[in-house]
Amino acid sequence: MNKFIKLSSIVLALVMSVCVFAGCSSNEAEKSNVLTMATSADFPPYEYYENDEIVGIDIDIMNAVCEKIGMELEPQDMSFDSVIGAAQTGKTDIAMSGITITEDRKNMVDFTIPYTSTAQSIIVVAGGEISAKADLEGKKIGVQINTTGDTQVTEEFGDDAVDRFQNGALAVESLKNGKVDCVVIDGEVAKALVDANEGLEIIADAYSIEEYAIALKKGNTELLDKINAALEQLLEDGTIDTIMDKYIEE
Ligand code: ARG
Repeated sequence: MNKFIKLSSIVLALVMSVCVFAGCSSNEAEKSNVLTMATSADFPPYEYYENDEIVGIDIDIMNAVCEKIGMELEPQDMSFDSVIGAAQTGKTDIAMSGITITEDRKNMVDFTIPYTSTAQSIIVVAGGEISAKADLEGKKIGVQINTTGDTQVTEEFGDDAVDRFQNGALAVESLKNGKVDCVVIDGEVAKALVDANEGLEIIADAYSIEEYAIALKKGNTELLDKINAALEQLLEDGTIDTIMDKYIEE
């Protein structure tokens, strides 16, 4: 009896340690397989919520990249203000959020090759006073805080001319209430906002072309190289075009 108890407790201990070991290693494998992505899901058609799920061009592209590099995508929603910092500090593996490559940001993060491009557009109340960029002089301009739209109009028209909002939808709300005279935001997002709100239009004048890329912590070249190789293939084989067409109608 004594012998039996001894034996069974040894067996039990063995089984338990195997379980712990196995459990631990599969957990590790799972973890290293996950690619975390900082994003600000307030930016249709690139990233936005649909039934509690983050969807959009950036999500589809990054899922396609992850499929190629054998990882599983985990988007993490935060304000745009925090997105680049998350990649910079390594809080997340990447930041992807319709992020424009700029010289300033290149000092903070490394960028992949560009995966698409766009220009800032100017949204106004349809039939109003503003019909060209020159008409913005002396007007209140709504922007999303810390975006390239913010930087550009601040440089051009000065701090006092700019009203900064947490996201584009709030800026547009303010335009509809007459608190700002126009909103400057990325082209496709401007179209989505105008489609979702009556009485607004985009004027023909726009800003210069900007390129979107994925940001990583400086020096993470192993992951950067992998993502770049995947992006090159997806650009070349038409996958990225197909994803764009799914969300953007010409
Ligand atoms: N392209 C602009 C920038 O890089 C705006 C990006 C805003 N992205 C967002 N998900 N809200 O500054």
